Amino acid sequence: MDFKNKKVLITGASRGIGKATALAFAAKGAQVGINFRNNREAAERTLAELPGEGHRLFQYDVSVKEDTKSLIEDFVQAYGKLDILVNNAGIGAFHAIDEVDFNTWTQAWEDILGTNLTAVANTCYWAVQAMIAQGGGRIVNVSSRGAFRGEPVQPAYGASKAALNSLSQSLAKQLAPHHIYVGVVAPGFTDTDMAAEALTPKERENLLRESPFQRMAKPEEVAHAILFLASEGAEYSSGTIIDVNGASYLR
Ligand code: NAI
Repeated sequence: MDFKNKKVLITGASRGIGKATALAFAAKGAQVGINFRNNREAAERTLAELPGEGHRLFQYDVSVKEDTKSLIEDFVQAYGKLDILVNNAGIGAFHAIDEVDFNTWTQAWEDILGTNLTAVANTCYWAVQAMIAQGGGRIVNVSSRGAFRGEPVQPAYGASKAALNSLSQSLAKQLAPHHIYVGVVAPGFTDTDMAAEALTPKERENLLRESPFQRMAKPEEVAHAILFLASEGAEYSSGTIIDVNGASYLR
């Protein structure tokens, strides 16, 4: 896979899967825009680690609708075009229906759908306007295994990712005539800060047993699938959802 001189924007890329994806694109010749929200220090560290030249930071909160417009405008102004958008930023939170109060419940739905679904829809909106104007582009959205198998203690998370799959497939159909291709990667548990924050040591041990590989995904393995969907030759895979879950949940 060759991404020489491709201009790639990755949301939430200061750490985890987003960072691994930034490293993988940069290693294949792309110029990468790292979007981050708060943690400038981590974003600067990631930027410094990227091989090649021309990478930049873009500080915007994608859950703020005005920020999605500014992010895409800023990126296109900096690079002249947007070849590939990876919507990776995502959040989760514990909100089991039988354990939390109503305020916690409603806040979880608002926050999680706001970041995992609406923010992606809005970022796609502006990216698509730019991609139509330039004659095409590619979008990869990071979903989750939880979209398919249920998320008992994070139901808004599972619902947000299921909706994200649907959004992606709708866009794949609508945008193919514009030469814009939309794919989805659905990881199982991946060894990142997000997973570490969500799990107790006992839960982590149980989770490892879910996969016949007896381990979590590495962020690099998720990045590999993202790069495939963003690569030349993957056009006819538009609308596809690639599972990266170590055969832990087969559908
Ligand atoms: P992470 O928490 O390490 O990284 C997510 C990044 O998104 C963080 O840097 C965070 O600051 C950023 N972010 C969150 N809200 C943002 C906003 N409003 N604007 C800009 N940036 C924002 O998590 P990880 O594990 O790297 O997750 C990346 C994606 O993969 C997420 O969409 C997550 O739902 C998905 N995923 C992760 C799995 C895991 O086990 N780690 C499993 C399945 C899916």
